[in-house]
Amino acid sequence: MDIELLKQKALEAKEKAYAPYSGFHVGAALMTKDGKIYQGANVENASYSLTVCAERTAAFSAKLAGESEFEAIVITSDSKDFTPPCGACRQVLAELCGEELDVILLRPDNKTKTFKLKELLPFSFGSKQLNDV
Ligand code: THU
Repeated sequence: MDIELLKQKALEAKEKAYAPYSGFHVGAALMTKDGKIYQGANVENASYSLTVCAERTAAFSAKLAGESEFEAIVITSDSKDFTPPCGACRQVLAELCGEELDVILLRPDNKTKTFKLKELLPFSFGSKQLNDV
C-alpha cells in the first residue's frame, strides 16, 4: 500500500474543503484493496446540521463508484493534533468499508497514528443486528 501517495491525496483533498462557517478544513483519502483512491473533504451548509464530514464524502463517492473492498483511509486537517473521525463517520465507515479498515490520522508535522476501525468503534451496530430478529 502506497501510504505516502494516500497522505498526499488527503492533503490535496483538504484544499477542496468548503468550510466557510467553521474554518476547519478536513481532507480524507480512501484507498481500495486494489489501490484506487477516492478523495473527500468536508462540505458545510448555512443550515449547520446539514454539514457532511470529509470521511463521509470520500466513503460515499467510493460506494457510488461501485467499490466494496477497502484498505485504508487517511484523515488530515490543519489542527496541530490528530483529527479523529467523528462518531457518525465511524458508523458510516463501518457500514461501507468494514471494521478491518486502517484509519490513518495525519498531523501537519507529518506524524501519523493508525488504528483499525474496530478499535475506534468497538461493539458496533450493523446489519448483523437487523438480520438477527
Ligand atoms: N469534520 C470532518 O470533516 N470530519 C470529522 O471527523 C470531524 C469534523 C468537519 C465537519 C465540520 O465541517 C468541521 O469539521 C468542524 O466540525
